[in-house]
Amino acid sequence: EEPLIVDCDTGIDDALALLYLLGDPAVDLRAVTSVFGNTDAVTAADNTLRVLELVGRQDVPVTIGARVNWRGTFHPAPFVHGEDGLANAGLPAPASAPREEPAPETIVRLARQHPGRLRLLALGPLTNLATALLLEPKLPELVEHVTVMGGAIHHPGNVTAAAEANIHNDPEAARIVLRAGWDITLVPLDVTMTELLTEEHHNRLERTGRAVPSFAASILGHYLDFYERDVFGARSAACHDPLAAAVAVGDIPCHRAPGLAVDVDTGDGPARGATIADTRGSYSDFPNREDTSARVVLRTERSFPQQLTERLCGFFDAD
Ligand code: BDR
Ligand code: CA
Repeated sequence: EEPLIVDCDTGIDDALALLYLLGDPAVDLRAVTSVFGNTDAVTAADNTLRVLELVGRQDVPVTIGARVNWRGTFHPAPFVHGEDGLANAGLPAPASAPREEPAPETIVRLARQHPGRLRLLALGPLTNLATALLLEPKLPELVEHVTVMGGAIHHPGNVTAAAEANIHNDPEAARIVLRAGWDITLVPLDVTMTELLTEEHHNRLERTGRAVPSFAASILGHYLDFYERDVFGARSAACHDPLAAAVAVGDIPCHRAPGLAVDVDTGDGPARGATIADTRGSYSDFPNREDTSARVVLRTERSFPQQLTERLCGFFDAD
């Protein structure tokens, strides 16, 4: 398969997405870069290393990226992902350390090494991708495809009435990324909020009694608590990042509305961080019709949570 970089703010659903990808030996994961978001960028890298070591993949390099957004701010979400960003699940501290290279440079270096082949999967705020675009203006030609978990097209926001967290955490960076003119797929809340993990999936993971699915069960349990308390009033949790991962590697048949112009509200009003799409394709004065054209996944052709659960149950303990 084509080489892949995952850029993420490792948190609960980011960790599940990484495990989903690591569960497929055909996925050629070349690096995982960290960004602030669910937790700070250093803790996110540390969490990534813990997950990689859990499955014996210390060979995958981890680098640290943006600590703050374009405006120099950052607000973590410990009420969703726990104080340590990973549900306080107690994975051992990593034996390895992040590499010295800053995350945007990792993205640029690998893009140059694999011209036209590298795929990017962004599961956090888009600050590292925007910075990489400034470092290497040819990045859109060098990268094969970008998949972003982010935005809300017809769906309400999840951090404000209008905005989804990853975009809201850095609207200025998101706008740069959406205007870069590369082949980009957006996986917004419209689809991630309809793909729900439930207590049944949690129990299935727990019942295996094995290390990796048990870890997945423990972080999912924490996630279900949050969703029950603050979102749905029931034990169902959104599959944001794992679904975007499945879309990125072509594992899930889905309808991608092609060539949809998407812009981001970067103002300071109630819609800051909202993604606005010209879904009618009829507003010729839409601000960035020429430069911005994303494929937007608004529905999948098949349910994904069971596929994710089975993949995670497929990790067997080493003897
Ligand atoms: C997105 O925000 C983060 O909290 C999650 O990990 C996911 O990437 C959902 O809005
Ligand atoms: Ca994330």
